[in-house]
Amino acid sequence: MRILVTGGAGYIGSHTCVELLNEGHEVVVLDNLSNSSEVSLDRVKELTGKELDFCKGDIRDRDVLKKLFSEKPVDAVIHFAGLKAVGESVQKPWEYYENNISGTLILVDEMRKAGCKNIIFSSSSTVYGTPEKVPVTEQTPKGSCTNPYGWTKSMLEQILSDIQAADSEWNVILLRYFNPIGAHPSGRMGEDPNGIPNNLMPYITQVAVGKLERLGVFGDDYDTPDGTGVRDYIHVVDLAVGHVAALKKIEEKAGLKIYNLGTGTGYSVLDIVHAFEEATGQKIPYDIKPRRAGDIAENYADATLAKEELGWEAKYGIREMCQDSWRWQSQNPNGYKS
Ligand code: NAD
Ligand code: UFG
Repeated sequence: MRILVTGGAGYIGSHTCVELLNEGHEVVVLDNLSNSSEVSLDRVKELTGKELDFCKGDIRDRDVLKKLFSEKPVDAVIHFAGLKAVGESVQKPWEYYENNISGTLILVDEMRKAGCKNIIFSSSSTVYGTPEKVPVTEQTPKGSCTNPYGWTKSMLEQILSDIQAADSEWNVILLRYFNPIGAHPSGRMGEDPNGIPNNLMPYITQVAVGKLERLGVFGDDYDTPDGTGVRDYIHVVDLAVGHVAALKKIEEKAGLKIYNLGTGTGYSVLDIVHAFEEATGQKIPYDIKPRRAGDIAENYADATLAKEELGWEAKYGIREMCQDSWRWQSQNPNGYKS
C-alpha cells in the first residue's frame, strides 16, 4: 500500500516508517519539521536500504495536501502530526487546538475529497483521565483530561468516530499509546526532544550522558507500591509494529476500531531508574520532588484486544527499552544535531 505518514520525521513516526518499508509498503512523509529533523528520514533510508518520498509541509495547508493526493493515490494515512508537550499546551491552548484539531479536520477533508477514507490516528492513554481501576480496557470510560493537549486527543477521537459513523466507507483506527520509550536497536534513531525533556526516559538518559545533573522524581507519596507514579512503558519499535498490524486491519474494512497499545505491565519511576542502572551500568542520581501538577498515580493497559484482533503484542521488555534508549543517547549525545 502507499501510506501517507503525517509527522513521519518525528519520534514514533520515523520508527514506524522503518517498519512500513520493511513490510514492503510505499511511504510518503508529510512533516513541517516543527519538532523534528529531516536527518531522521536519512536514517530510515540507511536502516532499510529503501527510499521514501518526503514533503516538507503542513497538514493545515490544503494546497500541499491536494498536490500530495493527486500526484499518486494514497491508500491510507497514519496520522502522527501534532503538538504534544503537555505543559506547553496549558500555556498555548489556542496553538494546540488549532494545530491538532484544525489540522486534522483539514487533513480528513482533503482525504475524503481524494477518495482516501482510511486513517490510523495517534491517540493516547491520556484520554482515560484518572481511571477508577487499572488496567484499563478500551471499554473503560474516557475521563476528564487535565490539559489542552489531552483534550485534543479526546476530541479528535470523537470527531473521527462521528465521521466514520456518518459514512461507513471510512475505516478509522484509534490507537491509544501508553508510554513510548526506547529507540531503534541500531542506535541510529531515537527520541530527540528540544530543550530540557519533560518525559522520564529522555531525562534519565540525559542525566546518564552528563547533560543534566540529577533526576527529579515527581512525588513518592502516591498510592502505589513504592509511592512513585506507575506507567506502562512500551518500546517504540513495538509501537511502530502495532501500526503495521493496524494497517492489515484497515485492509479488512475495519470500520471504527480502538486499541490500547501497551505491554500490560506497570513500572514505577523508581523501577525505571533501577532498571536503567542495571541494564546500562550508569548511575542515576535523583531527588524526590513534589508531585507534578496534572499527574495521575497509576495507569497501565489491558492490551488483550490488540492481541486478539490485530495479532499484535509487545515483545521487548524493560531491559531492552533501557539499553536501546541508552545506546541512542550515548552514540548521539546531541540527537540528530550531532
Ligand atoms: P514528535 O513531536 O516527535 O512527532 C510529531 C511530528 O509531527 C513532528 O515531526 C512534527 O514536526 C510534526 N508536526 C507537528 N505539527 C505538524 C503540522 N501541523 N504539520 C505537519 N507536521 C507537523 O512526537 P511523537 O512522540 O513521535 O508523537 C507522534 C504522535 O503520537 C503525536 O500525535 C503524539 O501526540 C502522539 N502520542 C505520543 C506519545 C508520546 O509519549 N510520545 C504518547 C501518546 C500519543
Ligand atoms: N517523572 C518524573 N520525573 C521526570 C519526568 C517524569 O518523576 O523528570 C514521572 C512522572 O511524574 C510520571 C512518570 O515519570 O509518574 C512518567 O512521566 P512522563 O512525563 O514520562 O509520562 P506521562 O505518563 O506523564 O505522559 C506521557 C506523555 C503524554 C501521554 C502519556 C500517555 O507525556 O503526552 O504519556 O501516552 F499522553
